Amino acid sequence: MAKITASVYTSHVPAIGVAMDLGKTDEPYYAPLFAGYEAGREWMAENPPDVVILVFNDHANAFSLEMVPTFALGMSASYEPADEGWGARPVPTVEGHPKLSAHIAHSVIRDDFDLTLVNDIPVDHGCTVPLSIMFGQPEVWPCKVIPVIVNVVQYPIPSGKRCLELGKAIRRAVESFDEDLDVQIWGTGGMSHQLQGQRAGLINEPWDRAFMDRMIADPELQAAMDHVDYVREAGSEGIELVMWLVARGAMADLADGGEPVEVHRHYHVPASNTAAGQLILEDSR
Ligand code: DHB
Ligand code: FE
Repeated sequence: MAKITASVYTSHVPAIGVAMDLGKTDEPYYAPLFAGYEAGREWMAENPPDVVILVFNDHANAFSLEMVPTFALGMSASYEPADEGWGARPVPTVEGHPKLSAHIAHSVIRDDFDLTLVNDIPVDHGCTVPLSIMFGQPEVWPCKVIPVIVNVVQYPIPSGKRCLELGKAIRRAVESFDEDLDVQIWGTGGMSHQLQGQRAGLINEPWDRAFMDRMIADPELQAAMDHVDYVREAGSEGIELVMWLVARGAMADLADGGEPVEVHRHYHVPASNTAAGQLILEDSR
C-alpha cells in the first residue's frame, strides 16, 4: 500500500528560485539562506519519495481571477512551469501521477471535500520553488508530483481547520491506494510576509518561530487560529501559512498514530522582503 512517510514545510519565495536559476546562491545575500537548506537536501537524498503531494497556492498565474477554486487537485501526467511575466523558469517539467490523483479525487470527494479537478495547468513558483529548494537543479525532478492548489488569494479563503481536515482526508486516500509508494506531503508559503501597503516588509520572527513550534506540538490549536490573526501578526500574505496545515493534517498522530519526528528546521530573514522558513517532519513508523 502507499504510505505517507514525511511532511515538508517551506516558503516558496520566487527570488529563491531566481537566485538558483541565475547562479547567485553563493552571493553574500543568499549564502546563509542556502546554507540552511543543505541539511534538508541531504535528508531528502537519503529519503527519496516516489510521489510528493505538493500543496501550494497559484498566484493568479494558472487560474487568473476569472476562476478561483478553493481547493483544486492536479490530475495530469505533466505540468509545465508557468510563465509568470518574465518567461518560464528553466526547470524541468513537473511529472504527475494520474492514477494516484484519480484515487485521491475519488477518496477525498467521497469523504465530503468538494475538490476542483484540474486537468491542465501550468505550475507557478508556489510549486517549482519548493522543488528547487529540496532537490537543487537536476535534469529531471526525481519524483512524481501531485499539485494541491489552495486559494489564499481572494477572500473568503478556507479556514485553518478546513485545511487540517483536508490533510487528514488526503492521508486516508493515500493509505488506501493499492500500490507500494513512498509519499511525502509538502505545505508551502509564508512565513512573515507582506508585499504591499504601509506594512510592506513586515517581519515577525517571534511569531514565525512560535508558529513552527505549534505546527509540531499542537496543530489542532494552530488550526483554530483565525485568518485575521495571521494577517495581523505575519502580514497580508502570511496567510499562505494555512497551507502548512494541509500537510500537517496528513501526519499519523492525527490518525491515532505516533508523534512525528522533527528532522530539520531552518529560519532566515531576509528572502526578498519576507522571512523564509522550513521544517521537515518524519512520520512515525
Ligand atoms: C514573494 C512572493 C510570494 O508568492 C511569496 O510567497 C513570497 C515572496 C515576493 O514576491 O517576494
Ligand atoms: Fe506565495
